[in-house]
Amino acid sequence: MERLQKVIANSGYCSRRKAEELIKEGKVTINGEVVTELGIKISSKDVIEIDGIPLKKEEKEYILLYKPRGVVTTTSDDKKRKTVIDLITTDKRIYPVGRLDYDTTGALILTNDGELTNLLMHPRNNIAKVYVAKVKGNLDKESLRKLAEGVIFDGKKTFEAKVKLRKQDKKKQISIVELTIHEGRNHQVKKMFETIGCKVMKLKRERIAFLDLKGLKAGEYRYLTPKEVKKLYYEIKKG
Ligand code: URA
Repeated sequence: MERLQKVIANSGYCSRRKAEELIKEGKVTINGEVVTELGIKISSKDVIEIDGIPLKKEEKEYILLYKPRGVVTTTSDDKKRKTVIDLITTDKRIYPVGRLDYDTTGALILTNDGELTNLLMHPRNNIAKVYVAKVKGNLDKESLRKLAEGVIFDGKKTFEAKVKLRKQDKKKQISIVELTIHEGRNHQVKKMFETIGCKVMKLKRERIAFLDLKGLKAGEYRYLTPKEVKKLYYEIKKG
């Protein structure tokens, strides 16, 4: 069951605000009855019409983008910077699932599937996100253990993480660390390293669940196969 205005917006017909206007103006019917109440919840079996024309469901689209540096993860930017949407040719109203910082690169899913988005965004969805961070400092075992067990930032402890030191240049004081987390708090990786006194110089998300960047260069994208979409739903639900 989903709110009527959300269903209309998700269909790609118009924005949610415009959908609310149409409802208030009495232009929307559900199973032949005019509804002017906002927030009414409907099921997938209900028939929606706008101005007497049945609402077509927008086909779902699922994209895996290799986000390059210097692009914002949003659908539009008031500072007129390039967005991840600018990198994709589509007539669908897709949006990014979660966020990668302006200077972070790597795997990003974009879709118009609201259900999958909500499931993927839930902090305990059991979807692993693998990051590789180049950090300043010679990380020792104790610091890596702290990251793995959970650190506190913004008043909340992080869940357990998998941490692996991939490389270290002791002379230059640079470490390459692989970090697997299941949450998606704002600037999570950078803030986790901050708690152990390390600055992240470069950050890349190498994988989301089983989806890695194989075959893609920065700025390129590909469509997920139906099998991959099914597998994503399965991975979340079994979690
Ligand atoms: N953690 C961060 O700090 N930044 C990102 O872009 C993603 C995860």
